Amino acid sequence: MKVKISFTIFCFMLVVVSCSDAQLGSLEQLAKGASLYHTNCSNCHQKDGSGLEGLIPPLAATDYLPANKNDLPCIIQNGLSGDIIVNGKKYKLAMPANKSLSNKDIANITAYIYKKFLKEDEFFSDTAMSIKLKNCVKKLS
Ligand code: HEC
Repeated sequence: MKVKISFTIFCFMLVVVSCSDAQLGSLEQLAKGASLYHTNCSNCHQKDGSGLEGLIPPLAATDYLPANKNDLPCIIQNGLSGDIIVNGKKYKLAMPANKSLSNKDIANITAYIYKKFLKEDEFFSDTAMSIKLKNCVKKLS
């Protein structure tokens, strides 16, 4: 009996351990990303990503985000200006930069937006994110 119980515990531990660092990391990213989105983005883009028609483009159900998802971290860090067309409508206002967000914060928000609005599971390591963000500074200068 004792052996059986310890075997059960052993199996349980195995399951916990095999829930990889990446999986745990991505759950943490989503939780942190959600809270950062709500503090830094949702006052404009709205909690549900619907935006404000004619003024703030939507993030949910849009043609722009899937086509430009690789630029998302750069957009978060540097903002965006110039006319863009989202779902056939023109947006002219500028989005401000978020210079106080760390690379980790941007990785967390990006993971949250991929999950919530693009329905994609994506985990962003600190290293991958800093390389990406360095490259967008290069692109701008
Ligand atoms: C002060 C309002 C404001 C805030 C805060 C803001 N944005 Fe934006 N965002 C805009 C505007 C306005 C545009 C359109 C810019 C343009 O026309 O060039 C935009 C464009 C975008 C786009 C590209 C267009 C689209 O709909 O896909 C993305 C992605 C985006 N914002 C994500 C974010 C994220 C993530 C945050 C939080 C870190 C954020 N924004 C915070 C106003 C805002």
